[in-house]
Amino acid sequence: MSDAVRAAITGLGVAVPDRVMTNADFEKIVDTSDEWIVKRTGIRERHIASEGESTSTLATEAARRALDDAGVKPTDLDLIICATITPDMLCPATACFIQEALGATDVAAFDLAGACSGFLYGVSIASKFIETRTYKRILVIGAETLSRFTDYTDRSSCVIFGDGAGAVVLEPTADPGRGVQYTVMHADGTGWDFIRTPAGGSRKPATAETVANREHFLKMRGRDVYKFAVEKMQWLLGDCMAQCGLTPDDVDLVVPHQVNVRIIESATAKYGFPMDKVYVNINRYGNTSAASIPLAMADAREDGSIGPGSTLMLVAFGAGLTWAGVVVRL
Ligand code: ACO
Repeated sequence: MSDAVRAAITGLGVAVPDRVMTNADFEKIVDTSDEWIVKRTGIRERHIASEGESTSTLATEAARRALDDAGVKPTDLDLIICATITPDMLCPATACFIQEALGATDVAAFDLAGACSGFLYGVSIASKFIETRTYKRILVIGAETLSRFTDYTDRSSCVIFGDGAGAVVLEPTADPGRGVQYTVMHADGTGWDFIRTPAGGSRKPATAETVANREHFLKMRGRDVYKFAVEKMQWLLGDCMAQCGLTPDDVDLVVPHQVNVRIIESATAKYGFPMDKVYVNINRYGNTSAASIPLAMADAREDGSIGPGSTLMLVAFGAGLTWAGVVVRL
């Protein structure tokens, strides 16, 4: 008998700020309408961090819930990965703030800047550490406070973003039919300017002028991102099915990065996935980047769409450009 192990998701937890911004709230601050936002994106509301909340506070709350769900103590962890492009500070890593808040003394911790693909990059890395028996208990968190980097005078981007966090605990399983079955990660840096925060880094340090020019906010070439997202999502779905020998009938649920309901519908239609096999909750959260897939998994579990034994295809794409896929059986 093989002594190979796979990485099983043994715990899942999420957290979002209490404050909600509806499309009607945006009608008061930019030239937009509920009708435009719903028709073009599928978004109806998003959660927005209040004073005192940050990426690490949301992440810590999600992490505590995931650890409780798994029955794992923070001190039993071997590694904490926090996927985020909206860290508490540029230095140190937000993962270290989370480690401190959890009391996970001495546990290794790092951030991963994979944007909307960050959570799946994190799950991919964690699964390799578990399969090679380097580590036994890994916390992977996707957490963002995009509202702190959103330009609320730019109607083409501000209506899209929301805040939140989701976390999973990964542990070894000897059952080959369970856990992470396949991972794939890609990037194309030639598309770095599709989505970027121009100032505040070493290339263009923050100055009074960069702030006045609003260059510390996320900028996005929406239409280009749209085309890239449809193409890569289709590629990821095809690749995941081919590599795992799956047909749409074998997949219980596709959980795509919640980018835009039109992108999700057109990409999944190519393979004939009925929409009841494609999870969409962007209406309630907007685009929460690295947090979106665990937030969708948690809602899917809550409403009974998935449970033990379900086969999930997780697909994401985002700034970088980056794209990634994971096939996992719960
Ligand atoms: N309200 C009303 N009108 C708007 C708004 C708005 N909020 N935003 C843009 N418009 C207007 C535009 O000005 C344009 O007007 P024009 O025709 O007079 O020039 C018109 O609507 C159409 O604009 P498009 O950009 O073509 O609209 P599109 O259908 O592509 O939708 C959107 C725009 C929603 C941004 C879409 O392109 C999209 O979802 N792209 C993906 C973006 C995304 O999710 N990026 C996130 C990456 S996040 C990350 O990695 C961190």
